[in-house]
Amino acid sequence: MGFNAIGPPLSRQVAFNRPVNCMYSDYTEEIGRFKAGTNGGRAISIDRAVDILDLVDGERYASHGYPHETWAWLRRNEPVAWCEPDGWRPFWAITKYEDVRTISTDPATFSSEPRNMLTPIVDEERLAAAFPGSRPGGFPLRLLVNMDPPDHRAFRGVAAPYFFPKYLRGLEEKLVSITDDLLDDLSGERTFDAVEDLAAWHPLRMICEIIGVGLEHEELILTVTQQAFGASEPPEGVRNLAEIVGPMMELFGGLAAARRAEPQADLASVLANARIDGEAMSELDLLAYFLLIATAGHDTTRNAIAGGLLALAEHPEQLHRLRNDIGLIPSAADEIVRWTSPVTHFIRTPLHDVEIRGQKVRAGDSLVLFYPSANRDEDVFEDPDVFRIDRSPNPHLGFGFGEHFCLGAKLARMEIQVLLERILPRLESLEAAGEPVYTPSAFVTGVKHVPLRWNLTASRPAIPTR
Ligand code: HEM
Repeated sequence: MGFNAIGPPLSRQVAFNRPVNCMYSDYTEEIGRFKAGTNGGRAISIDRAVDILDLVDGERYASHGYPHETWAWLRRNEPVAWCEPDGWRPFWAITKYEDVRTISTDPATFSSEPRNMLTPIVDEERLAAAFPGSRPGGFPLRLLVNMDPPDHRAFRGVAAPYFFPKYLRGLEEKLVSITDDLLDDLSGERTFDAVEDLAAWHPLRMICEIIGVGLEHEELILTVTQQAFGASEPPEGVRNLAEIVGPMMELFGGLAAARRAEPQADLASVLANARIDGEAMSELDLLAYFLLIATAGHDTTRNAIAGGLLALAEHPEQLHRLRNDIGLIPSAADEIVRWTSPVTHFIRTPLHDVEIRGQKVRAGDSLVLFYPSANRDEDVFEDPDVFRIDRSPNPHLGFGFGEHFCLGAKLARMEIQVLLERILPRLESLEAAGEPVYTPSAFVTGVKHVPLRWNLTASRPAIPTR
């Protein structure tokens, strides 16, 4: 079928031949271009053959998939692009690998506060009204992703040991059993939804295990993470964040109280009893920490797993190679993350004026780092639009880079690897069984439904010794 990663075939993507959705007052109809240097001194000088709404509008992600053609055009023609899509606050689109990496490495210049993600103005206003005092476009809670050093390092240090290889190795047996249980239910020759029947549950059960949340609460966490990131129907997105997180806050508040009274060997006990600079975390910071771990650890990996299985179904020669050489599983897992890039962006705000590729960027502007674009940068990746399970080196930025490099990257890699290790020896056949449905979100996104058909033998493979 030849899908262009998470997205429709290139032939189905629309080519835009008009400079649209930028609200500069000096756009001239007759010449069809923006005049240079008139937007408060920002250089705007070229026609856009692409539509910037592709980058921000969740509905477009749902109908067109990832805007790879738009990103490719920007990388070639306007790698630091000033964008003012109707309904969103303006931002610079950063699409080149080197720029995403450099900006991520310099938190002293590029702050993770206050704006983290692209949210329609109407939703930002709603959120600000629900959480008085929060800054426009900022998330109303203090999360690792919106902190800068030195606070960031102190906070990150609390949970970090739970994601070190030493701790994760101890979880492997549990992960294998979670995986095998899910696969047993899908064995035989059958058509199934790789998202709903498999990928939604796999990382969710692991993150519940790590935090110490009982399985009776997994439905709640599933619903909240999907709603928060727009994977639900209808796509409420962050619009109803206040209502969405309420029940989750109640759950984690109760959990923290229980773990203070009686600590266990889980992350909830570590968070509940943590002290930073000798002080206990505030109740709100603690709950925000729980919320971040639960949500970040679920939807992202779910998209990588389901998108990865889809990629293997659509590239039978790659699947064949992998089945014949399971030593390629680790590089396949990284290629899946590069290919699917489930987190489309995070935002950085320069603390003083800077120049990027000759563009003057002012303190306080928003720089949107588009990870899927960096991961298809022709200057870094050979044949970036080819899914290649043995890609090496594969220095993708799917997990970000630098100060905020994904805390759960090792866990996510382990989850994808174990899943492949447990599936491949039982897999007789695998093919796409219909068109995938994409998530109506421009943030943590990817596939919502992936119909697959496979024949999976009933017997579990032996547990490998590492
Ligand atoms: C394929 C799966 C995943 C992808 C693509 C992904 C992607 C990312 C990205 C791009 C960032 C960087 C944010 C920034 O620079 O501002 C990040 C941060 C983070 N991720 Fe992941 N992630 C994944 C899985 C996980 C898992 C399983 C966890 C488990 C808890 C997790 C927890 C976090 C946390 C806590 C942060 C914040 C780190 C910080 O700000 O210091 N992620 N992730």
